[in-house]
Amino acid sequence: MRRNRRTDWSRRLVRENTLTVDDLIWPLFLTDGTGVEQPVASMPGVTRYSVDRIVAQAEIAAELGIPAIALFPNTDPAKRDAMGSEALNPGNLICQACRSIRAAGLPVGIITDVALDPYTSHGHDGLMDGETILNDETVEQLVAQALLQVEAGSDVIAPSDMMDGRVGVIRSALDTAGFQDIQIMSYAAKYASAFYGPFRDAVGTNATLVGDKRTYQMDPANTDEALHEVELDIAEGADMIMVKPGMPYLDIIRRVKDTFLRPTFAYQVSGEYAMIQAAAQNGWIDGERAMMESLMAFKRAGCDGVLTYFAVDAARKLTGRG
Ligand code: PBG
Repeated sequence: MRRNRRTDWSRRLVRENTLTVDDLIWPLFLTDGTGVEQPVASMPGVTRYSVDRIVAQAEIAAELGIPAIALFPNTDPAKRDAMGSEALNPGNLICQACRSIRAAGLPVGIITDVALDPYTSHGHDGLMDGETILNDETVEQLVAQALLQVEAGSDVIAPSDMMDGRVGVIRSALDTAGFQDIQIMSYAAKYASAFYGPFRDAVGTNATLVGDKRTYQMDPANTDEALHEVELDIAEGADMIMVKPGMPYLDIIRRVKDTFLRPTFAYQVSGEYAMIQAAAQNGWIDGERAMMESLMAFKRAGCDGVLTYFAVDAARKLTGRG
């Protein structure tokens, strides 16, 4: 076996998987104000930007050839309520950002998250009756949220809420409104994971989240159920599907890809990013190598692309630019 591994040219010749810039999606956080750039303490290297600063970030993505960015808001706590009303405000952070990035005419896809958690006072992705998350009432609101985002300039609707039936209802609402070309990337198999902790700092839901998300996000013990979730989302009209978190769920990615042969994505989530960064900052691992190895692992598992906070660093490394 070692003959093929002996030289660099030979290792390149027999390499089975490649990672390119085209595989990367860059998640970005928004916050209120003007001229604001706030580092997220639990995600070293990640920053929240005010809307006026976001176009410059989208330009960085475009220059590096990163195909798409994914936007998330840190909504002013004063604007959060039990109904997540701010999600339906055409002037909210996401809609503002979509409009300005769209106006800049950059060759970058805009992916927007559809879920209520950054807008609700209780931090849940759906509307609540007592301690129960209401499925159908939530879906109705998600449809309105998705339409607003698309009107503002979003290219890809990414429902991350894990309500049942939302992909189908959003698809038909988009079609009826004349948005037949808007893609849906569904968070199809999303687990109730401890690895979302730093993200909840970034969007400000850690402080307020009441209870946990186990009545709608998946049990980490399950695999067959993930296939069922993906099957339903595809039947309802998802163009691309996602598994989340990433690294601890590579087995799910592989099974999903082999079973459905669809464009399949993983979200290398905030906790995965934070672990690598923290260990690297302590000098315990080589951060850059761990980053590239983790991204290659997603390709090996069958991913067509990865949502990753490393997108810019990885793109710089892959292109030798910047
Ligand atoms: C919420 C949402 C979450 C993430 C993306 N969308 C967190 C959650 O479900 O609480 C997590 C992303 C990350 O951890 O990087 N709709």
